[in-house]
Amino acid sequence: MHYGGSVSTSTDAISSGIGIALEGRHAQDLIGEKAAAECGALLDRHGVVIYRQVRVDDDQLVAFSRLLGQVLPVPSGAEATHPEVDVISLDPQKSVLAAVRQGTFLWHLDGTRQQVPEKATLLTAIEVSDEGGDTEFASTYAAYDALPDAEKDEIADLRVVHSFTAAQLLANPNPTDAERAGWDRVPAREHPLVWHRRDGRRSLLIGATAGEVVGMPADEGRRLLNRLLEFATQPQFVLRHHWQPGDLVIWDNTGMLHRAIPYEATSRRLMHRTTLVGEEAVA
Ligand code: OGA
Ligand code: MN
Repeated sequence: MHYGGSVSTSTDAISSGIGIALEGRHAQDLIGEKAAAECGALLDRHGVVIYRQVRVDDDQLVAFSRLLGQVLPVPSGAEATHPEVDVISLDPQKSVLAAVRQGTFLWHLDGTRQQVPEKATLLTAIEVSDEGGDTEFASTYAAYDALPDAEKDEIADLRVVHSFTAAQLLANPNPTDAERAGWDRVPAREHPLVWHRRDGRRSLLIGATAGEVVGMPADEGRRLLNRLLEFATQPQFVLRHHWQPGDLVIWDNTGMLHRAIPYEATSRRLMHRTTLVGEEAVA
């Protein structure tokens, strides 16, 4: 993908304002209230903010993250220099969670099993993949807005169960009883399908963790969720980012579905990540 000027995306997403790319920023310029306020505003407006080749180190990544919000400690235990910095790699030598990172290949939101979903994710590329490994983002704000009124009415009051099991079943539809029991031990969370945001916007809580619609037969619920996901991930709502080493990408996790384009477990691709604690309860 080729970026021109200071703002660009790879698809017609740009015409709907999904994502913004900033060039020529230096890492030290990010560590200040002004840069953080600008980032927050761009995030609200565009859902994804890309700082091309800004080359933040872990100290700077954590410092910038703290200016943007409260930073989550890595639940599995940190493998990088800071308790807040997560290592994203498919290589088991680089991360103990390598095996579950295959799950990033499916459209998802981070932290949907929490009462207050995570606010944003920051991801910076240390090493990039020769093949695959782009990241795609889909705006569920834009998708919701584009739904026909009849469909908006149909889904208005629906509630959805988000579970680890739902996401695992997509990758492994025929688990053993023991596997299934293990997944089912991870607590699930029910959320409304349509999130009424305090700023007046609406977004959709869908993606890999969304497994059932409450009160609907399983197959009917699955079909509805599949249909909505397919709708929301059409090209006009999607931004695809092709990574260069040193890129820093921040997304509004509450409304932007995302996925990694598959890459090999032997790939060099290595990302460092921080996550911001949610600030808006689902309503
Ligand atoms: C994540 C994630 C996507 C990627 O870390 O939550 O979805 O491209 N990563 O690595
Ligand atoms: Mn993710």
